[in-house]
Amino acid sequence: MNLAIVGSGYVGLVTGACFAEVGHTVICVDNDLKKVHQLQDGLIPIYEPGLEALVKSNVAAGRLAFTASIGEAVDASKVIFIAVPTPPQPDGSVDLSFVEGVAREIATHIKKEYRIVVDKSTVPVKTGEKVAQTIGRVNPGADIDVVSNPEFLREGSAVEDLMKPDRIVVGVSSERAVGPMREIYEPFNAPIMFTDLNSAELIKHAANSFLALKISYINAVAAICEASGANVERVADGMGADKRIGRAFLNAGIGYGGSCFPKDISAFIRISRELGYPFHLLEEVEKINANQKERFLKKIREALWVLRQKKIGVLGLAFKGNTDDVRSSVAISVVQQLIAEGAEVRAYDPKAMEKAKALVPQAIMVDAPEKVAEGADALLVLTEWSEFKFLPWAAIKKSMLSPLLFDGRNLLSREEMRALGFTYTGIGH
Ligand code: UDX
Repeated sequence: MNLAIVGSGYVGLVTGACFAEVGHTVICVDNDLKKVHQLQDGLIPIYEPGLEALVKSNVAAGRLAFTASIGEAVDASKVIFIAVPTPPQPDGSVDLSFVEGVAREIATHIKKEYRIVVDKSTVPVKTGEKVAQTIGRVNPGADIDVVSNPEFLREGSAVEDLMKPDRIVVGVSSERAVGPMREIYEPFNAPIMFTDLNSAELIKHAANSFLALKISYINAVAAICEASGANVERVADGMGADKRIGRAFLNAGIGYGGSCFPKDISAFIRISRELGYPFHLLEEVEKINANQKERFLKKIREALWVLRQKKIGVLGLAFKGNTDDVRSSVAISVVQQLIAEGAEVRAYDPKAMEKAKALVPQAIMVDAPEKVAEGADALLVLTEWSEFKFLPWAAIKKSMLSPLLFDGRNLLSREEMRALGFTYTGIGH
C-alpha cells in the first residue's frame, strides 16, 4: 500500500523503514530540508541498531523515499501517519501544536479521494477527535477517517520492536478504516487490537505509566532493601518469577529518563486531572524517581565527604544503553550536579558523548572507558551499556586513586568487584 509518514524523527523514520521492509511504498516527510537531503543520501541522523541498513536497502529497492512536501505525500498515499514531536510544556501538559499544524496542512492537500489520517505521535486522550474536527473545519469536503495507532518501540531496539511487536493497537472511529489498517499490519504477524479512538490513545499513556510505576516500585523496594540488609535483585527475581508480575522493568537504578517516560507520565497526570481524576499514584511515581537520583548522590557524598576538586570518572551518559539519546538522561543530571558541587568529571559513553557535550560542557570526554578511571577518587556507572561489564576491571582498579565504585544500574557483579578490591556500592543491596 502507498503510505506517507509525516515527521522523520525516531518514530517516523523507524516506522517508515519497517513499513517499506514488509513491502509497502513509503514516503517520509520532514520540514527540515537538510535532514531530508541527508536521508536521501543515506545518512541517518540518529544511532539506532539496524536502522541504517534498513533505510539504505529500501531506498535502493525504490520502496522508501524522502520529501519536504506534505502535498506530494498526501497525493501519493491512501494512509497518512502523523509522527511529529509532542514535547512537554513547563506545566506538564503536552504541546500539540505540531500535530495540529500537520493536521491542518494535510487537510489542505486532501482532494476527492478517501484518506486515512493516523496519529502515531504520543498524545493525550481525545486528541484524535480534535484532529478529525480540525481537518473537517479546514476542508469540510474531505472524505477522511482519523485513526489512533500508538507506537511502543523502545530506543535502542526500535527496529526489532517494530518488526516483532507484542501487539498492534489501532483505534478507529469508523469500520471503513479497519480493512486498510489490517492490510498495513498483516505482514508483521502480530495480534492487531482494534478499539475506539480514545481507548487506543489511553492504552499508550496507561502502558508507559505502568512501566514507569514498575521501575519506581522496585526503586522504593530497593530503599527498603538497603535499610534492612536484603538484596533488591534477589527480591526482583522472586517477584518477577510470578507470571502475573514478570521480571521486566524491575531493575532498580538511578531512575528512569528519556524522551518518553518523564513526559508521558506528567502528561497523563495532567490529562487525568483535567478529566476530574487526580492521579496521585503517578505523582508518587514521579517523586520516587526524582528521589532516586538524590539517594545515589548522597551515597557518593557520604564516601567522599566534599566533592570539590574530587576526580570522578563516569561511565555512561545516555538515558539507557544502546542509544545516543541524552534527553532527560538521569546520567546527565547526576554529572551536572557533581560539577555544580565542584567535582572534576571525566566521562565516557560508547555513543552519546557528542550529544552530551552541549549539556555538560565542563565534563572532560575521553575516548576510552579505562581513561575515566585514571587517578580517580571514585568511578560511577550511570548507563546500562552491557559492554561495561567486560572492561579490564582489575587494571581499572589499579589506575584509580581510591577504588570507590558506585554502580547506579546494578550492572556489575558485586561479588566480583569486591573480590577485585573495589569498594562497591550498588542500588538496593
Ligand atoms: C519507552 C517504552 O518502553 C516504549 O514502549 C515507548 O514506546 C517509549 O518509551 P524508551 O524510552 O526507549 O521506551 O526506554 P525504556 O527501555 O522503556 O527505558 C526507559 C527508562 O527506564 C531508561 O532510563 C531505563 O534506564 C529505565 N529503566 C528501564 C530502569 O531504570 N529499570 C528498568 O527495569 C527498565
